[in-house]
Amino acid sequence: MLEKSFHILTFGCQMNVHDSQWLARALTGRGFQEAPLEQAQVVVLNTCSVREKPEQKVISALGRVRQVTGGNPGVLVAVTGCVAQQLGGKLFEGAGQVRLVAGSDGIAGAPAAIERLLAEPGLRLSLLDFTSSYVEREAGPRHAAEPVAYINIMQGCDNFCTYCIVPFTRGRQKSRATPAILEECLAVLDRGAREITLLGQNVNAFGRDKSGDGVSFAALLSRVAALPGLARLRYVTPHPKDMGPDDVAAFAELAPLCPRLHLPLQSGSDTVLERMRRKYNRRDFLDLVACLRAARPDLALSTDLIVGFPGETEKDFEATLEMMESCGFMSSFSFCYSDRPGARAALFPDKIPPEVQQERLLRLQELQEKLSRRWLEARTGRETSLLIEGPSRRQGLGAEPSWQGRDPYGVPVHVTLPAGEDHTGRMVPVRIMEAKKHSLTARRTGALW
Ligand code: SAH
Ligand code: SF4
Ligand code: F3S
Repeated sequence: MLEKSFHILTFGCQMNVHDSQWLARALTGRGFQEAPLEQAQVVVLNTCSVREKPEQKVISALGRVRQVTGGNPGVLVAVTGCVAQQLGGKLFEGAGQVRLVAGSDGIAGAPAAIERLLAEPGLRLSLLDFTSSYVEREAGPRHAAEPVAYINIMQGCDNFCTYCIVPFTRGRQKSRATPAILEECLAVLDRGAREITLLGQNVNAFGRDKSGDGVSFAALLSRVAALPGLARLRYVTPHPKDMGPDDVAAFAELAPLCPRLHLPLQSGSDTVLERMRRKYNRRDFLDLVACLRAARPDLALSTDLIVGFPGETEKDFEATLEMMESCGFMSSFSFCYSDRPGARAALFPDKIPPEVQQERLLRLQELQEKLSRRWLEARTGRETSLLIEGPSRRQGLGAEPSWQGRDPYGVPVHVTLPAGEDHTGRMVPVRIMEAKKHSLTARRTGALW
């Protein structure tokens, strides 16, 4: 075991990935170093409970940690994130190595708690309280940033969609202060980031809670878009019901805003949408899509879809397939509905049998494959730009090595670039040559910048 070393295992959404990255930086700032699981003194499980059997997943991950570390009592295990928020002190039962449980707001205090626990071996700590406003976190060391940076703009969600556990695990919506957001954006751009993704569970509702400082989401977007050094701007996740005219206009007005929007539809049936308490219907969604495409004709949409929501009929499901075709989603995340404790839909009657859910999911994914393939194929021959993220695992032909970047749509693209240089973080103009299953290949058409 390596003294002052840590290993983080991350489950769940982009916000969890971001929390884990922050925790790694904060621990590094306190003199810890990252290590493989077998050697780590501190093991963090950053957990998700949005679907399926999250408790079991955490218990089996804890079992694996115990096995790999030989049950060494000197190893400190911390469980953080949404399952920690949900199960709290129960996680101490039976798992001797677990000495820290930190929920969604509590994670901000995890670095200090970890130091304290290492100094006081008999101690256990739980950080489960929700705070009343957004908690700013320690910055950590200021080393070079990745080309693509994620910036939190809020915590929690107030929507209570009937299937969803997030409002319970992440708490009520709390907007972060605008100056703190802009400062963090400037800091990552200063350290070399070229692209920023603003993160939150319902980003368009930014500012509309008691922590809001009078700046709307659209106003925040235009301020971030104006920051020097920013080449690309994205955000995730918007809620269709909260996309206002200013949010739509931003796609026409803000040059760095990428022509890609992840817009969760969940279902194409009005009755199901109503029971999900999504507060929009097919017509609203289609109208929104039409406005977005009018503002930005090259916009591509992706989405989240749930199949087998309680009471979903074959006809409801077919309405979802039909909406997928009408919207021409370039990609989608699709899930079988699963009961979440505390979420309203868990009490709904007419649960759909797993085999029916599974059969619908397969049909939906088959259609998505077709739509995605069509979308990728339509990209061939187009001129675009890539932000290079690193060397490609695929070997380039001839003398030039192959690199992987992303186009403005977020699609991975492979391109060969001059040998002998690190191109990470550079922008390169290209022409798309060929569509692969989930990626594209391209040829450079001009100078890197
Ligand atoms: N705030 C975001 C993301 C929420 S969680 C949003 O509003 O879209 C990510 C996705 O998980 C959701 O969009 C939904 O498609 C899916 N999901 C959430 N709860 C679920 C459940 N109980 N069963 C199946 N899928 C679920
Ligand atoms: Fe969950 Fe709905 Fe909030 Fe998204 S908007 S996090 S699906 S409650
Ligand atoms: Fe999962 Fe929590 Fe994110 S439940 S999806 S980690 S907000």
